[in-house]
Amino acid sequence: MSVPATVVAYHQRTKHDFHRFAASSGHMDWANQPHPFRYYEGAAATQLELNRELPPVGYDRIYTPNSLNPAPVNPGTLSDFFYYSLALSSWKQAGTSRWALRVNPSSGNLHPTEAYVLLTSVSAREATPELFHYVSETHSLERRASFSNEVWQSLMGDLPNASFLVGLSSIIWREAWKYGERAFRYCQHDMGHAVAALRISAALCGWQLKLVPNWSTDDVAALLGLDRKHDLIAEEQEEPEALAVVIPTTVDGTQAVMLSPPTKTMIDTIQSATWYGCANRLSREHVAWPVINEVTIATEMPRNAASEPNPGGFHQWPQEKLSRSDADARQTVYQRRSCLALDGSSEATLDVFLRMLGRTLPGLHPPWDAVYWPPAVHLVLLVHRVTGLAPGLYALVRDPTKKDLLRNAMRGTFVWETPPDVPEGFPLYLLTKADCRDAARVVSCHQDIAADGFFSLGMIAEFAEPIGRHGPWFYRNLFWEAGMIGQVLYLEAEAAGARSTGIGCYFDDPVHEILGLTGNQFQDLYHFTVGIHVDDSRLQSWPPYSHADR
Ligand SMILES: Cc1cc2nc3c(=O)[nH]c(=O)nc-3n(C[C@H](O)[C@H](O)[C@H](O)COP(=O)(O)O)c2cc1C
Repeated sequence: MSVPATVVAYHQRTKHDFHRFAASSGHMDWANQPHPFRYYEGAAATQLELNRELPPVGYDRIYTPNSLNPAPVNPGTLSDFFYYSLALSSWKQAGTSRWALRVNPSSGNLHPTEAYVLLTSVSAREATPELFHYVSETHSLERRASFSNEVWQSLMGDLPNASFLVGLSSIIWREAWKYGERAFRYCQHDMGHAVAALRISAALCGWQLKLVPNWSTDDVAALLGLDRKHDLIAEEQEEPEALAVVIPTTVDGTQAVMLSPPTKTMIDTIQSATWYGCANRLSREHVAWPVINEVTIATEMPRNAASEPNPGGFHQWPQEKLSRSDADARQTVYQRRSCLALDGSSEATLDVFLRMLGRTLPGLHPPWDAVYWPPAVHLVLLVHRVTGLAPGLYALVRDPTKKDLLRNAMRGTFVWETPPDVPEGFPLYLLTKADCRDAARVVSCHQDIAADGFFSLGMIAEFAEPIGRHGPWFYRNLFWEAGMIGQVLYLEAEAAGARSTGIGCYFDDPVHEILGLTGNQFQDLYHFTVGIHVDDSRLQSWPPYSHADR
């Protein structure tokens, strides 16, 4: 199967290049800037507990499966789950402008990702299964629907007691308002960041979290009420993205979780359940971007797509071989921030560099045990300042069985040597020695942060083959995987006393040109940079929930 024309056309026309940026309105339409938070007006809200005292947890334990005892699922632990994944982490102020930042990052801080949770009673007010929408501004859950116990039973089947579901969607308009046609890509990156953030937060509660591979987009829409068109303004609809199961027990990481897809009768029952509230209006006026609608529809998961969960047969790098960090896990997650500028001089040690890369390698541990597809995204690193490593271009082959595929697709002059002092079997290869600082800056839309850190990188995805094999929906998953790698790098940077930033603005084909890549076999899907940050002293910070400050 080949990549559908709609996906190729969208991807092609939303590339930035030296002389042409992807289409957008070209100016900031401040009058129609989307409201930063979604609410369901008329839905009752339950405030999640703030000021919870939690014991320290070593940062490295995030990446060790089943390393924490499962906490009981209750309003307190649900609060923790969202607090360390999607909550606000700070308010910032510059002059008269004030904006909120969150635990998870987002392109342009626009936060298109919305989260829902379906469980049996968070408030003990009623023992019925209820669907809630998470509101980061107030750290609360809005009740969207009440379902019958039969719906709950048929959904959860034989899953362990107290398991629950998390649903994710994208308000594409939020990103399109600023970024125009490229916005669909950014929504998918943000999804990946959110999935990794939720998986890691679940791990801190001792819980498992797995994306459900076999629910169609329409079925997720029905379950989350996103097909209730009259509850949302047409231009501000939420696109269903994914459903995840949270299991509050230790399980074998290889165990795939297939949730039975809903029957027609169940969908009818869900649709005729009691629903509460209507979505708030985000903007007065909207600009239509038809190609976004086209790629959105083309990449929806059909019913019976029969996506095979990842059997976990890929090569894994033993995480215990990586150097240890002294950081506290929750503190690291909570302080994550994007750098605005890097110092252009500090170096990373080889140990720290390898640990950062090692954490991005797939394995049956958080966050990678959340995904059901085999890894398809590799890293090409522009190394500027790593002690003991020659500056140059390197490749991290995240699935070592793909080394020859990449090697054959890239420039024949690349040397593919294991650098000195890199442990045998660690899939990092020198391609060519070079001072890449100018190239890094230029291909990342002339952004200095790409040149001023320890390293920056491009995420090179296997493209035509896996999309052809899995189906057009896999286009989204490639961005999710890239976003998850980004989330790991954000945390790794913090744990090392450094800072990083996701870079969605980069020149796609000039990167392919540097690497010698032609056609659609591989595509550059995301950039990233890591280094020592320089803070902007003009920015004032305020605590996230000042009424109940932690
Ligand atoms: C997908 C994605 C793309 C981004 N692209 C850029 C970029 O090109 N340049 C940049 O300076 N920051 C970029 N950022 C960083 C965001 O601007 C930042 O996450 C947002 O302002 C929120 O700040 P925080 O990460 O500190 O919470 C990107 C972030 C994400 C998640």
